[in-house]
Amino acid sequence: MRTPLIAGNFKMFKTAAETAAYVVELRGLLRDVNGVEVVIAPPSTSIQAAAVAAEGSPIGVGAQNIHWEREGAFTGEVSAGMVRAAGARFVIVGHSERRTLFGETNDTVNKKMNAVIAAGMTPIVCIGETLEQRDRNETLAVLDRQITEGLDGVTGEQLAAMVLAYEPVWAIGTGRNATPAQAGEAHFHIRQRLKQWFGLESAEHCRILYGGSVKPDNIAKLITQPDVDGALVGGASLDPKSFLAIIRGAAI
Ligand code: 13P
Repeated sequence: MRTPLIAGNFKMFKTAAETAAYVVELRGLLRDVNGVEVVIAPPSTSIQAAAVAAEGSPIGVGAQNIHWEREGAFTGEVSAGMVRAAGARFVIVGHSERRTLFGETNDTVNKKMNAVIAAGMTPIVCIGETLEQRDRNETLAVLDRQITEGLDGVTGEQLAAMVLAYEPVWAIGTGRNATPAQAGEAHFHIRQRLKQWFGLESAEHCRILYGGSVKPDNIAKLITQPDVDGALVGGASLDPKSFLAIIRGAAI
């Protein structure tokens, strides 16, 4: 049985003080919520404040990106070890905004994912097709390539402990979420491939989140899909009350 996971990707929103206030409010709201794991990924500058405010609560803290090297002359970058020291335990890797706006490839996704694992954190590896790729019927082939190249070298044991996020690019920030059937089909395909490539048991343990315009009013239907194990939430995670409604919608 996989525990559902609801992760909030704050993107470039919220200062350290705003993040701390958010965590204080959310931990109060979560007091009577069970059966679901909760993570927030604020900007790097807010990770430490989030971790301090979340101490002793069930809220896990993640980063949105890291560089794969441990340290060096990489102006503007932060390493896996640095975000871990600030309090992160999860790192989003290969988000489509990183891929399309900042030139990330399956190869850099692979390097970053390995750095996250080496630092003792859990990667949340994002995959998903663009609208053009979906229209050309390439969705499943794109996902296959993102998995084989992005997860190259991963052991079954590592896969079992990691999180994947299926985020169709056309559904991100557009208000146009995938239908439960579309999400279910993609998640089923991903799980089948994971079984094929990493073994049945590891594939059954790996959590696969859906992301793309998840809101309080669509989470309940999405989560009923057997291979949807939670959600990676952008816009609707920024308000603790709407995030709570999504968390409640996913709790078992
Ligand atoms: P929205 O929920 O705002 O569509 O963003 C989804 C996303 O990119 C989460 O990583």
